Amino acid sequence: MKFTKNTLRTVRPAHIAILATIIALSSLSMAAARKKYPMSSRDKWQQPDRVVGDLGLKEGSKVADVGCGSGYFTFRLSKIVGEKGKVFATEISEKGLKSIDTKAKKANITNIQTIKSDPKKTKLAPCSVDAAIIVNVLHHVKKDDRVELVKDIAAALKPGGSFFILDWRMKAGVKHDLNHRVPRKTLIEYAESAGLKLDAEFLYLENQVFLRFNKPVKK
Ligand SMILES: C[S@@+](CC[C@H](N)C(=O)[O-])C[C@H]1O[C@@H](n2cnc3c(N)ncnc32)[C@H](O)[C@@H]1O
Repeated sequence: MKFTKNTLRTVRPAHIAILATIIALSSLSMAAARKKYPMSSRDKWQQPDRVVGDLGLKEGSKVADVGCGSGYFTFRLSKIVGEKGKVFATEISEKGLKSIDTKAKKANITNIQTIKSDPKKTKLAPCSVDAAIIVNVLHHVKKDDRVELVKDIAAALKPGGSFFILDWRMKAGVKHDLNHRVPRKTLIEYAESAGLKLDAEFLYLENQVFLRFNKPVKK
């Protein structure tokens, strides 16, 4: 194609039309994505997809979401582990579990098993999960029950499995739970007294400590 002054005149409107179509299409698809997966204000600081991506889960993995609430992480975990995997969603409150069951049934999700747990017992089978996650739960548990709960989670991990604690930083910029936050050092002590070893820490969450522990393989 030979470019002349006139080419610019004829090509420019065509470029503008193409650009306008691209912009219109991409904003339509962004709107559709937002509708499918609404961006809540928690998502902004929680970065749930990045967190779930850092759990080292594969298709077929078995994972426990301890103190799952109404399933903020449960459904994301379910997607990652797929049909061959399993998410055990444990809670002391029936309300959250019921809402997870209802939502899972509606969406035809079959890899989530809800478990009504006790404050110190998850009711997970020994050595049954590759990983366990506990998000913003430990500070709600009575101080005297915390180590026992973490020991119970450790027992449910397969040897070599990972345990992830996410809990408020002492200086987290959110109003929740100001009076009963647990220092990072204490969270580590809980896990260590359950025989777990701190093996990684993720620093990108502004509001939460994010720690990974490993259950050693006995030789
Ligand atoms: C702030 S919510 C967090 C829910 C969920 N993990 C999330 O990140 O959205 C705390 C939850 O911990 C649950 N919880 C408190 N003590 C617990 C325990 N000992 N075992 C299991 N869940 C517990 C509460 O019922 C509540 O649903």
